[in-house]
Amino acid sequence: MSTQINCHLPWSGLFSLNPVKKNQCSHHLNNKGAARRCGSSSYGMHDPKIVFRELNLKVGDCFLDVGCGSGDYALCASKIVGDSGLVYAFDVSPMVIEGLLDRLTSQGVRNVKARVSDITCPLPLEDNCIDVCFIATMLHIIDLAKNGEKIFTELLRVLKTNGQLSIINCKKEEQPFGPPIHMRLSPTEVENTAKLCGFKKTNLIDLGYNYLITLKHPKNKTPP
Ligand SMILES: C[S@@+](CC[C@H](N)C(=O)[O-])C[C@H]1O[C@@H](n2cnc3c(N)ncnc32)[C@H](O)[C@@H]1O
Repeated sequence: MSTQINCHLPWSGLFSLNPVKKNQCSHHLNNKGAARRCGSSSYGMHDPKIVFRELNLKVGDCFLDVGCGSGDYALCASKIVGDSGLVYAFDVSPMVIEGLLDRLTSQGVRNVKARVSDITCPLPLEDNCIDVCFIATMLHIIDLAKNGEKIFTELLRVLKTNGQLSIINCKKEEQPFGPPIHMRLSPTEVENTAKLCGFKKTNLIDLGYNYLITLKHPKNKTPP
């Protein structure tokens, strides 16, 4: 069954990333108490339709968003996967997850499970349960040289056979916003680390300020 992607959320706020729509989060505007808990989002930096076309989510799929921030992508994914699907939205910040849980409750969303979870630690998920794993504008925060292999091994564990891993990163170039250039990761740096665990790049898309790299793993084979 094909699903039309029509899930523009009412805001596209971005704290430290978006050069234009800084601090436009609806929580921020409507509820000062909630403002502190509203995670940042890259959702408004690019056309989410391009992102979700690449994610290729289907009704009934299980989607994992690690470092979910405000949860904009998770909420959009929840509409696509529907009641027969499931979305896991993980973030290391308890405050961010608290804000997302408020959002899910106020919108009556039942198919998103928001949890505090650190990507450098074992994920609270069973083996082979995720169709699409997504990480947006978060990997630059992690020391990939130190933790990269551990992270990709863990993502591989939770991905189903033929599951896909899609990662959005800030381009490794000088920009007047976002992380400093020394923190930014090139597609090649991501690909080379993922390759250590047997992932292969299947696509690379230019999103303007960011890029989206997609990787897959032939799970029936052991890592090289
Ligand atoms: C720049 S925000 C991106 C939010 C969202 N992915 C997006 O692009 O809209 C980075 C998020 O990653 C989370 N984060 C940082 N380190 C993390 C870790 N080790 N494990 C899980 N989440 C982490 C932060 O709390 C923050 O919410």
